Amino acid sequence: MATQVLQGKVAFITGGGSGLGAAFARRLAADGATIVVNDLSGAAASAVAAEVGGSTAVFDVCDSAAFDAGIDAAVQRHGSLDILINNAGIAPAVTAESLARFDVALANAMLRMEGRISEMQPTNAITSLTDAEWDRMIKVHLYGSFYGVRAGLRHMQQQRSGVIVNISSILGQLPAGGPVHYSAAKAAIIALTKSAAAETAHLGIRVNAVCPGYIDTPLLGDLSDMMRIAVTTRLAMGRMGTAEELAELVRFLSGPESSYATGDVFTMSGGYVG
Ligand SMILES: NC(=O)c1ccc[n+]([C@@H]2O[C@H](COP(=O)([O-])OP(=O)(O)OC[C@H]3O[C@@H](n4cnc5c(N)ncnc54)[C@H](O)[C@@H]3O)[C@@H](O)[C@H]2O)c1
Repeated sequence: MATQVLQGKVAFITGGGSGLGAAFARRLAADGATIVVNDLSGAAASAVAAEVGGSTAVFDVCDSAAFDAGIDAAVQRHGSLDILINNAGIAPAVTAESLARFDVALANAMLRMEGRISEMQPTNAITSLTDAEWDRMIKVHLYGSFYGVRAGLRHMQQQRSGVIVNISSILGQLPAGGPVHYSAAKAAIIALTKSAAAETAHLGIRVNAVCPGYIDTPLLGDLSDMMRIAVTTRLAMGRMGTAEELAELVRFLSGPESSYATGDVFTMSGGYVG
């Protein structure tokens, strides 16, 4: 059998127990990588690790000491850290209040089309956001990605090689009204990516960001039917993407085919039109 492109490479994927992370694990494993599946959920991490013949690292990416220990243990066990995908994430909660705000936003959109601006109402997405909601969203996405980049670079700099892919979002590039904490965290991940890439390119390390549009994963499982319709009308292709479609992009960025990409931002959105 021909040698697989990622044979001998060790890939550490955060939030790998579900959705996109699980698809990334399957795709990289299919090309020969050894996979370490991180997740908050031990059961989810174990199921994906068993499927791809990899190992698990169960911890919260907001815990920097646990992140350092998890990466160190992976290097100890598998011999290197070649690919790090900072993917773990959470969605803004869908609650009775957020559904009511969505109804106000829809009514506002109709009023705007009719030019009845003075009748439009506040949606209060920002004014109702609690400190705890803001903190958790920023922690999981921005702190989690930073802890990963820092822990990963400590090994990759010694190796003078490695690839990091940070999962941002189309909402980090084109923030919409509503999930301000999610958009702010995802935008900051792009800055983190570019800064880390500039600092490490001469060491043979590449760091890129991926901005998915709306991808049908458990993350979006709580969206109401109306929210799904509203989302889909913003996609030129008229459908959400699949985790497997995104995995092709992450596979490209993880391997030698993307040798000239660093500090770059790759959007895959099916034509998100804002
Ligand atoms: N699905 C989309 O439409 C979409 C769009 C843009 C960006 N993203 C981003 O893609 C990434 C993956 O999302 P998904 O759609 O696969 O979601 P998902 O809910 O299917 O999977 C996320 C996984 O991350 C894990 N996780 C959550 N918080 C964690 C923590 N603190 N530490 C460790 N693991 C944690 C969860 O347990 C879960 O297994 C997220 O960063 C998300 O923001 C998703």
